[in-house]
Formats: sequence, structure tokens, C-alpha cells
Amino acid sequence: MNLRDNYNIAIVGLGNVGSEVYKHLVKNKRSIEINTNSTFQIKYISAKTIGKKRSFSIPKKMWVKNPLALVKKDDVDIIIELIGGSEGVAKKLVFAALKNNKHVITANKALIFKHGNELAKIAEKNSVNLLFEASVGGGIPIIKSIKESLVGNKLFHIYGILNGTTNFILTEIERTKKSFKEILSTAQKLGYAETNPKLDLNGDDAKSKIAILSALCFKNKIINKSFLTEGIERIDLEDVEYAHQFKYKIKLLGISEIIDNKIKQRVHPCLISKDSDLAKINGANNAIMVEGNPVGKIVYQGLGAGKGPTTSSIISDLNSILKGNVTLPFGFNYSDAKEFKMFDFDNHVCKFYLRLVVKDKPGVLSKITSILSKHKISIQSVLQEPLDNPKNANLVIITHSAREKDMRFTLNKISKEKFMAKKITMIRIRNEKKL
Ligand code: HSE
Repeated sequence: MNLRDNYNIAIVGLGNVGSEVYKHLVKNKRSIEINTNSTFQIKYISAKTIGKKRSFSIPKKMWVKNPLALVKKDDVDIIIELIGGSEGVAKKLVFAALKNNKHVITANKALIFKHGNELAKIAEKNSVNLLFEASVGGGIPIIKSIKESLVGNKLFHIYGILNGTTNFILTEIERTKKSFKEILSTAQKLGYAETNPKLDLNGDDAKSKIAILSALCFKNKIINKSFLTEGIERIDLEDVEYAHQFKYKIKLLGISEIIDNKIKQRVHPCLISKDSDLAKINGANNAIMVEGNPVGKIVYQGLGAGKGPTTSSIISDLNSILKGNVTLPFGFNYSDAKEFKMFDFDNHVCKFYLRLVVKDKPGVLSKITSILSKHKISIQSVLQEPLDNPKNANLVIITHSAREKDMRFTLNKISKEKFMAKKITMIRIRNEKKL
């Protein structure tokens, strides 16, 4: 067999993922070349700390101090950006690389979320690849699947567990009863969490991912202005256990759907039936559900974080380039990108889980129920439990369906009452069924 083109690769960023990609490419060079009918060389590597002790050695001649210099080199065809972050060097590098006709592979969801609209335009104009399979769902081949395999469908709903770290925390907190902090530290050691883990916990990571998935599914410009994003910071073991008593699990979900030609896109924790498929996704796994016509509903599942899964997606993107493909970044011509209006989330209707830490005094429960009923929020179940501090009690309420706006208004009223000892925990309940 004659091998065709040769591609020169530069890897920028040699952390957990970058190192794994490098080792994989060295080890599997021949089989990748046979599979793609091309040859490739890792020409250059750039990393913040060149002198760092590593378990593998890199030839001296490969090192480049200033990664931005790579975009001008004639002997670089593909840049694999693994620095991360939506600004700084990663942003400069990817913009300059595409402008200089280099193919780019990146795992950087923050960058695609924030600048994907502009980057896609440049890539299209210059007929180069901007590939980002690793930015969403770790090793799950969701992006290529939407762009290519589901191309014959009209998709209208995509949702799921998009952040491995928070799913790991929510699962482990229930299983081990260890503290939130301790479990987060394990997630960091396992390489699941972002460099700044706040971005996992506050929902920002899932926010970038659902916005990218939405754009791919609904062929719209990435919606990167603000939309409802809540994380798991305010969820305690108590909530996980109360949810269990009511036959629910708590999951942080990213959800996007088209309703009456408007887009309803959000990230927030949900209580879902413990018998549903999503409730059974444990640890750092992600699960993504896609609905459309004529395909119906499909599920993707797999490890959503960590060096192995991320490397798998990067290698998949690289294979595509080595095979000589040039694909549109979002699978459709950017000039055709739609701009949907946002659904007004005030009109969202669902059941709610409420946990109120109240002073344990006569009349408190009746006062709360009367405020709720005054605002037409009807209670489905209620549970009261004394707390270690004997003056306080946990009051857990599951409501019937109510409008978001009414619920917020009512909770604001209740929170001003003197008997409230802490901020209210409110989690939306999602009617999630088995497949
Ligand atoms: N911090 C991310 C997560 C890594 O936990 O899912 C993968 O994007």
C-alpha cells in the first residue's frame, strides 16, 4: 500500500491530556498511518514548563517556547490545542492558526463556547478543519455523530449529564457519605475536574457543552449570552438523601430543546425518577439523549472526563484530518446558521423540591403552606425533620407543577420570613422516564 500525504503536527499543552495524546501517537503511529493512508510526524511540542519531570522523554528539537510561533511555520499542518481557557494563549493560538491555514483540534469547550461563532467562520473561509470532539462528553463520539450520522434528522431535543466531576460528586456523596470537599479532591486527582473546579461546580462547564451541542443539533449560532445556569454548590448530602426517600436521584443536567421555534436552553440540577435511565449513570460518566425525526430517541453514554476518553476523541479528530477530510466545524455552512429567540424561562412549568431550614416553632409549617397556597402553589408531599441544632428543622416539600416565575416570587416572599434559618434549597423536578 502506498502511503499518501504527510502531515506535521504540533501539540500545545502537555498536561494530563497532552501527555496521553503524545504517548498514544508515538505508540500507535504505524496503525494510525495504515488506517488513514497518510503519514504524520509530531514536529513540535510547546508547554508551559519545558523542564518538568515527565515519565517519557521528548526530543529536544521538538520543543518550541512560544506556541504562537507555530502558526507561521511551514512545517506545521495541524495544531492540537490542549491549553484550555477561553482567553489568553489558547484563544490567540487558535485564531492565528486558523487564519494561517492550519487545521486545529481542540478539547477546549470554553473557547468554542465563547468564540466558536467567529472561529467557525475563519475555518470555513480558509477551508481548514476546526475539530472539537473532545470538548463535549469526553470519549463519547457525540459531535461527529450529530454532524454526520444524524444528518438526515430534524433534531429537537438534546439533554443529559454533561459534567463528569459533578456526577462523580453526586454519586459518591450518596455512596460513601464523605464530604463534598473530599470527593472533589478525589475527582481532581483522577483528572476529571477543571483546573479551576469552580467551573464544574457552578455549572459553567456544562453550560459551554450544552450550548455547543445545541448549535450542532439545531444549526444555530452558539448561544453564549447568559441563560439559566445553576450548579451543585448548594446541594448537600441531606438533599441527596431526601431525594432518595421520595424515589428520586439528583443529577446536574444540560437541556436544550426547540419549542414553538424558540430555544429553551439551560443547566441546572434536577430531581429525576430513580428508575429512569439517566438516574443510573454513576461516577464520572456522561449520558446524552438526542431526540429527532425520524430517528426517535437515542442515548450516548461513556466516561465524560479524564485523559483516556479525551485522548480517544482527539485521535478520532486527527484521523479525520489525516484521511484528507475537510469538514464544516458545525456540520452546516455558517452563513446559514439560525438565530432562535430564547424561550422565556419564567414560563417553565415543573414540580419543585424545596428544602427549608426553619426555626422549629408552632405555626411555621402552616405559615409556609398558606404563603404557597396564596400563590397557587400546591403541595404534593411534605416532610419535617428536627436538626442537630434542636431549634431548627428541615422542612422538605415536593410541590405539584408550578410556573417558574410564581415559584421564584413565592420563595422570595418566604425567604423574608423571620422563621427562616438558612437560604432555601430549590431543585426542579424533571419528568424523566425509562427509554
Ligand atoms: N471537568 C470536565 C468534567 C472535564 O468533569 O466533565 C471534561 O470536559
